[in-house]
Amino acid sequence: MSEKFVLATHNPGKLREMREILSELGVEVVSPEEVGLTVDVEETGETFAENAMLKAKAVCMQTGLPAIGDDSGLCVDVLNGGPGVYSARYGGESISDEERNKLLLESVKGQGRRDAHFTCAIACAFPNGDTLTAEEHCNGVISYIPMGTGGFGYDPVFSYPPKLKTFAQMTPEEKSEVSHRGKALRAFAETLGAYLSERAWNELEAEKQRAEEEAAPTTPETAEAATEKPETAETPQAVAKQRPKTPHHPNYGQKKKKRKRHH
Ligand code: IMP
Repeated sequence: MSEKFVLATHNPGKLREMREILSELGVEVVSPEEVGLTVDVEETGETFAENAMLKAKAVCMQTGLPAIGDDSGLCVDVLNGGPGVYSARYGGESISDEERNKLLLESVKGQGRRDAHFTCAIACAFPNGDTLTAEEHCNGVISYIPMGTGGFGYDPVFSYPPKLKTFAQMTPEEKSEVSHRGKALRAFAETLGAYLSERAWNELEAEKQRAEEEAAPTTPETAEAATEKPETAETPQAVAKQRPKTPHHPNYGQKKKKRKRHH
């Protein structure tokens, strides 16, 4: 049976993307509405990662299910990294994307270098307190005029030099290959996959240990021994050390990947 994760967003595009990428892990991604929740988490963090975690933790607490949150935005060097976490509200909440882009172009006019990058952070919170994070960037420059009609937000003014195109001039597939969001989604899927496989292995180990304990004959001597403290420590680290590296391990033969995981 697949495990249910709630994605803390009301954006159907984000839901579809996350569903697609996590379906390969046997994970079911549901919207807050599907579990009877309206998400309204204030983005009070100073970083994208903080905001993503705020959303994930709030929804996890409210639903009792593992929850995923994300946050992204545009950082422009000559604006000291702005609009950054205020990307969605730059110039006020009521103005259109077009007006926001015009304002951005005016702000960087005559300032020399126009280097910028998009950032996307994804966080996941589990009911047992475990958390996972992934964060990726995409470097580019702010164009002189808006170009292209695809995408959303700052896409028409974000030029990606290796392709000599703005994000708005790319197909969704082309953008996803190089974008902060596409890269963060893939990194997150990898991190989550590793976490789930380690967790499954630990559960198997615990089950095996329970079965062995139950199957052990109970003579007066073993009953007495059972009440004594075992010689080996039962910390997760000690159990992991004793774990045999057999081909039954889901990661057997695979190179261990570096990943961020916080407890
Ligand atoms: P959020 O991650 O949905 O909160 O996005 C915050 C804001 O960052 C959006 O409203 C956009 O203005 C901007 N943004 C984030 N990612 C992109 C992108 O891929 N293209 C254009 N704008 C983006």
